[in-house]
Amino acid sequence: MLNWDEYEEAPTATQPQAAAKPAPAAQPQQVAEAAPVSQYRPKTEGELHRRAAEAVKNLDVAAGLEELEMGAQRIAVDDKRMINCRADLNQLVPFKYEWAWQKYLDGTANHWMPQEVNMNADIALWKSQTGLTEDERLIVMRSLGYFSTADSLVANNLVLAIYRLITNPECRQYLLRQAFEEAIHTHAYQYCVESLGMDEGEVFNMYREVPSVAAKSAWSLKHTQAIARPDFQTGTTETDQELLRNMIAFYVVTEGVFFYCGFSQILSMGRRNKMTGVAEQFQYILRDESMHLNFGIDMINQIKIENPQLWTPEFQEEITQMILEGTQLEIAYARDTMPRGVLGMNAAIMEEYLHFICNRRLAQIGLKEQFPGATNPFPWMSEIIDLRKEKNFFETRVTEYQVGGALSWD
Ligand SMILES: [Fe+2]
Ligand SMILES: [Fe+2]
Repeated sequence: MLNWDEYEEAPTATQPQAAAKPAPAAQPQQVAEAAPVSQYRPKTEGELHRRAAEAVKNLDVAAGLEELEMGAQRIAVDDKRMINCRADLNQLVPFKYEWAWQKYLDGTANHWMPQEVNMNADIALWKSQTGLTEDERLIVMRSLGYFSTADSLVANNLVLAIYRLITNPECRQYLLRQAFEEAIHTHAYQYCVESLGMDEGEVFNMYREVPSVAAKSAWSLKHTQAIARPDFQTGTTETDQELLRNMIAFYVVTEGVFFYCGFSQILSMGRRNKMTGVAEQFQYILRDESMHLNFGIDMINQIKIENPQLWTPEFQEEITQMILEGTQLEIAYARDTMPRGVLGMNAAIMEEYLHFICNRRLAQIGLKEQFPGATNPFPWMSEIIDLRKEKNFFETRVTEYQVGGALSWD
């Protein structure tokens, strides 16, 4: 998995002290030790078939399903819980959280693929000497730089940290859908980078080479590390709060704040008829992301309802501070990517927008707004988020398309 520490501590030519760090005890020796002499001897096909039949005959069903309590009562809706649930997690129904299933269905109804977007106009514009200003080029590069790895951070956090701790099958069903959407988003950024002939090393390394990008990525990664340890378990106030911290760091801050400067910059570019293919990719991604955000908020609020003891005044303060930290990092990113006014925006207008976004995120999880009176200078962003699939904002593609190829039985 992606691990910030590995990048920070990897020995390099300019960091001789890193090499002097004591190495983890077990790993180097394991490589050096001679492998034990193998007792393996090839089996005949007949022997393999006989052994398979024997294993099936002796299959101990009870042992395989050990944790499921053979013959236990069937699951009742009231047995289901968001976290620390002991009911069977292999049974999707009966549904307790209808909203989770509905969001899964909505997600599948919005399916799209990056290759469906026509990138020809973008390629011509990107390659022409005069098509874009230096400030506009900086925004395209920084956006692809941040997002190309940010969606991997989100996907890794979902699969390696959150998934096993959410003990509800209908929520897990959505998490699986979300994980695939994050893969599509990373694919979309890769597709843009490849189509435009950008230096992929420069783009994909930006999260550890450009300070305003690195700061946001490092902030998110820190929260994955807190719960991704294999021995981490929920079940105490402390560990349940740690899970909530992670969910708020990813759903509310990473997907709910860190994405909004870049999204509004690129979509503003599309509205000006520049880089319309990239903008269209971002438009689809933004629609997916707003569903991820809303799903995360529903999960967080449901966990609060079921575990009110976690939501102490002290914890609320800490979460408010986290969301403020995220907002400040995003404002720093806005200043870095917009040294001057560009595309009808500038860093000060973006700061106002991010204050508005911060207020919304706080209110969505029941916390007090921190920037009273902040207004939305980009009302068109809300319209884009609400777009339905068949409405084509930039009018660059046909509205009806088929997903996937037909099955062939030849
Ligand atoms: Fe994403
Ligand atoms: Fe997402």
